[in-house]
Amino acid sequence: MNVLITGGTGYIGSHTALTLCQQGHQVVLFDNLRQSNPQVASRLETLCDQPVPLVMGDVRDTRVLSCSLLEHEINAVVHCAGLRGTHASLMRPLDTYAHNLQGTLSVMQAMAMCDDPILVFSSSAAVYGKPRHALQDENHPTEPTTPLGRSLLQAENVIRDAVKGSLLPTRVAIMRSFHPAGAHESGLIGDCSGLHATAGGLMTRLARVAAGDDAWLPLLSVSPDTPDGTVERDHTHVMDIAAGFAAALDFLRLHEGLHTFNLGRGQSVSDLQAVKAFEAASGRQIPCAPTADTSDTVTRTVADTRLAKVRLGWEARRGLAEICESSWNHALTQKLINAPEARGVNG
Ligand SMILES: NC(=O)c1ccc[n+]([C@@H]2O[C@H](COP(=O)([O-])OP(=O)(O)OC[C@H]3O[C@@H](n4cnc5c(N)ncnc54)[C@H](O)[C@@H]3O)[C@@H](O)[C@H]2O)c1
Repeated sequence: MNVLITGGTGYIGSHTALTLCQQGHQVVLFDNLRQSNPQVASRLETLCDQPVPLVMGDVRDTRVLSCSLLEHEINAVVHCAGLRGTHASLMRPLDTYAHNLQGTLSVMQAMAMCDDPILVFSSSAAVYGKPRHALQDENHPTEPTTPLGRSLLQAENVIRDAVKGSLLPTRVAIMRSFHPAGAHESGLIGDCSGLHATAGGLMTRLARVAAGDDAWLPLLSVSPDTPDGTVERDHTHVMDIAAGFAAALDFLRLHEGLHTFNLGRGQSVSDLQAVKAFEAASGRQIPCAPTADTSDTVTRTVADTRLAKVRLGWEARRGLAEICESSWNHALTQKLINAPEARGVNG
């Protein structure tokens, strides 16, 4: 299939691109490079040994997006363009809605012009909000507590209403990922957000402290609800998430309608446990201390992934050690690539 991946140079998009190329699909990346860099496209070409074109554009520009769909004879869109991060969404709520909600509206308008297209949408466990029970399945109430979760839930609703109204596309999978983490084993692609700032997922922030870029890790010590007082998250390897997206694409070739799937490991890990695992993977000490940050009030997330297992034949294969090792390998590889001598810079 010819697959266009919006946000294709970003974290989830790039790993999905690699997985789809390895499965024989032709992939086109579409990204405004707001949160990523164009080198990801050439690294993907190296890893896949095939051309991976990059269209530089904003998904909110429906005309440019439509032209790309037609020009590349696209059969399926994997929509990953958007903003992420709980804290970032609280700081920049309007930006979050503009990219996540307006962007999705534009993707739906552009796809309405295609012939029976397939859509896989990158949503999040953030749409659930505070867990009502131990495992969160796809029917768990959606009561997001942050602009991030609300913007993704509203984007889901736009998609749902379009499908109900019999507007194209009619084959859609909404993928609710639980805390993507880790990186491809090459170290060439990964979560690049935290390499430039203190933002990024927990693993990326751990790598920054292990590498000496940050002095210590602020730990969100939240409540007596968890045994060690730190939040618990269902960290899931990003290559497993990418495999889940690819499985959904295959599924939609045979199944019409709208389908929602959780992608997670089904096990939670506390931030303190993650620190210990990262120390073991990197061989470095990671100083950490509690913080007063109360932006994330959800103390524990664990995915119920039975639906993805039964319908997609998917389950997460990689564990916490592999997540930490691949994150650390990615951080070291990026340091090597970005070192002045590697870039041929004097002094
Ligand atoms: N990483 C997570 O923890 C996580 C979990 C679940 C869902 N999500 C959601 O999945 C999507 C992708 O997340 P990610 O982790 O890959 O983030 P990311 O920031 O690594 O990648 C997003 C990509 O989209 C691009 N982009 C942003 N706005 C755009 C626009 N208007 N037009 C074109 N390109 C645009 C960015 O430049 C970036 O390359 C986001 O919507 C995010 O909210 C992320």
